Amino acid sequence: MPVTIVLGGQWGDEGKGKITDALAATADIVIRPNGSTNAGHTVVTDEGIYKLHVIPSGILYPHCTCIIGAGVAVSPPDLLREIAALRERHARLGQLYLSDRAHVIMPYHPLLDLYEEQRRGAAGIGTTLRGNGPAFTDKVARRGIRVADLLPGSEALLRQKLEILLPEKNTLFVHLYHQQPLDLDELLNEARTWGEALAPFVIAAEVFVQDALAAGKHVIVEAAQGTMLDLDYGTYPYVTSSSPTAAGACQGAGIAPTQVERVVGVFKAYTTRVGAGPFPTELTDETGQLLRERGREYGTTTGRPRRVGWFDAVAARYTARLNGMTEAALTKLDMLDPLPEIRVCVGYRLGDRELTAPPAQLDQYMAVEPVYEILPGWQTDTSHAASFADLPPAAQRYVERIEELIGVPITMIGIGPARRQLVWRHASALA
Ligand code: GDP
Ligand code: IMO
Ligand code: MG
Repeated sequence: MPVTIVLGGQWGDEGKGKITDALAATADIVIRPNGSTNAGHTVVTDEGIYKLHVIPSGILYPHCTCIIGAGVAVSPPDLLREIAALRERHARLGQLYLSDRAHVIMPYHPLLDLYEEQRRGAAGIGTTLRGNGPAFTDKVARRGIRVADLLPGSEALLRQKLEILLPEKNTLFVHLYHQQPLDLDELLNEARTWGEALAPFVIAAEVFVQDALAAGKHVIVEAAQGTMLDLDYGTYPYVTSSSPTAAGACQGAGIAPTQVERVVGVFKAYTTRVGAGPFPTELTDETGQLLRERGREYGTTTGRPRRVGWFDAVAARYTARLNGMTEAALTKLDMLDPLPEIRVCVGYRLGDRELTAPPAQLDQYMAVEPVYEILPGWQTDTSHAASFADLPPAAQRYVERIEELIGVPITMIGIGPARRQLVWRHASALA
């Protein structure tokens, strides 16, 4: 069962790109199972910084086959641009495939995302405005356009679908948002050119993956976003519109739960979130400012400043359990180097009660007060550590305390963005 799932344990941007890239060095296939261009996964190699949006983070290895799975919503022009930009910079890429079942972000989706956010004003979700929510809404409403619908030969069917769909979108554009309607023939023309350009990449991905697994290949499923942005278990409605969990990863990749061997939860050594919604450990003081600047905490996709706070072990333990994490990666430990002391949230206080898991009621989540444990800082540069033993004792204790709180062994520790800045701890060392 050589499937490894890599997923976010917080609110996204935990460093899943870096961890996937590290694990992909010895993998055959990397699949993206969810999300869309709303994601931005960074991989730093000797050649420079790569920001990947829907293409899996294994693509920089020529030996890796990368698949955009059925659970992803794909914007064809964005994907084609991403492919072209990678080809321009990097000659020896892995093979890329796209599921014929993936949904398409159509030109009306980013517009709907923007107009709806504008209409909501202060009550907005703070989406990435990439059309992700509207595309997944159409998918669930059974009126979505799929990659298969764009392929040469599907023109009549696509026209039929859009003839039903577009009047509804245009009614919203004209009457609710007071904007111009879209033209059916223009849309069909665009869709035809996308279909022709994407056709060479399109496969029945779930069949390909199952054949590969039957042949003993090692597969990584690289989820986007983080579990606290999950539709069911995240801070609803301040969530994304697909499922960033291990279960969602299986569904989106066409892999059965029984085929999964490892679930690697990726956590930042502190917490960040982009967009609106509850964030009990948020720091709005100079420590928050320091972490934001030191950690260059600006969105990979949108450039928005990320909200920054202390490590939230209540949320982290919740996501570790929900995903059945077998291990965890803790990234950006080096960002904490200058701090004299570090806080970790070990409980949520709500009035005279202490909660040990995130509440479903949004107003309660907004109102909880974090209960902090204070740990000593190390005020030493960790970015050159070659092993766990090389880390300052206080940094080792910090890692061990988080491990205890989330109940999962931490097997990888990020001490910088570069490939070599990853400290591995093997299971034997943790026994
Ligand atoms: P993802 O969406 O989970 O893949 O994460 P992002 O790429 O959006 O954000 C993580 C950022 O942190 C990127 O700029 C990475 O290059 C950087 N990064 C990842 N791990 C480390 C680490 O251990 N230390 C430092 N300093 N930066 C890291
Ligand atoms: P990666 O894969 C961080 C957030 C948005 C917003 C909410 C809904 O790089 O970790 P959406 O555009 O999905 O409708 O926005 O979800 N969000 C992310 N935050 N990292 C991401 O992806 C995110 N993808 C979506 O900021 O709060
Ligand atoms: Mg990101």
